[in-house]
Amino acid sequence: MTDPVSAASAANQSSGSAAATPTWRQRWQRVQGAALFAAVALVVIWAGLPQLPAAWGVQFGAPYLTFFSLAVAGAAGFFMLLNWGPIRPPRSALTTFASILFVYVATVGGMVAFGNWYYPQFETPKAGASSASGESAVEKRGKEVFLSPQFGCFACHTIEALGIRGGQRGPDLSSAGRQAEVRRRGVSAEDYLREAIVDPWACFTPLPASGLIECQAAVDAAKTYPQMMPPGAKERMSAQELSDLIAFLKNLRGAGERDAKRN
Ligand code: HEC
Repeated sequence: MTDPVSAASAANQSSGSAAATPTWRQRWQRVQGAALFAAVALVVIWAGLPQLPAAWGVQFGAPYLTFFSLAVAGAAGFFMLLNWGPIRPPRSALTTFASILFVYVATVGGMVAFGNWYYPQFETPKAGASSASGESAVEKRGKEVFLSPQFGCFACHTIEALGIRGGQRGPDLSSAGRQAEVRRRGVSAEDYLREAIVDPWACFTPLPASGLIECQAAVDAAKTYPQMMPPGAKERMSAQELSDLIAFLKNLRGAGERDAKRN
């Protein structure tokens, strides 16, 4: 018994594949659109996005840029593969299902994995995140204030030295205590930190790349962070919470120095 349809398609495939094998030039013509799109998009991502004015308040760090790049490379790669050569149809319902499942797991799974790695600021960091040894009771209470969702400091501030991976909109406070000593001439670290929290408009934190150390009297998009500190900390916090918080921040002196000081 001959099945005319499968016989015809078999003949078609064997003759077709030899005749239709594209040259490299043809292949390039098929994929060049996607390749050029990816090249342009990568230039925009790595050269354009970091140039956004700081005053807009949208700043993308390297992880974001990496994520955008992966998305672009993935999309371009997908279209390049589609156009590369004749697509063999799956041989059975099972392989069809398996390939859909594969694409789903690879894309959604990849995004979930990336999100888990990059978005800890959407969870409350664990209070035990630091090497808690040698922490005084005051510092411990201050850290709890810092980590409390009620005040949400970690939504904008990371303390890399303690492994507290918060947001990136404000400065990393890893050495906030040491820097507070020199931010404002003639003002103690403690007073500067108090002011930074209760009256953040009084003086603006310089961007690390600006090379400045002292805080600045006026916002300068090229030199200082945009002012985003939530107002009214004094009204929302008890005096005790505020002083614990200041004690905690005052002791942040960057990873190495803190250890060196204790030994
Ligand atoms: C909405 C984002 C945001 C939140 C929430 C936030 N901050 Fe800030 N913080 C910033 C930004 C932006 C700056 C830099 C601008 C400035 O204040 O000069 C800053 C600056 C600071 C500084 C000064 C650092 C320096 O080196 O001069 C301290 C200290 C500080 N924040 C502590 C806190 C504490 C404590 C909390 C929680 C009560 C908090 N921040 C909540 C965004 C935020």
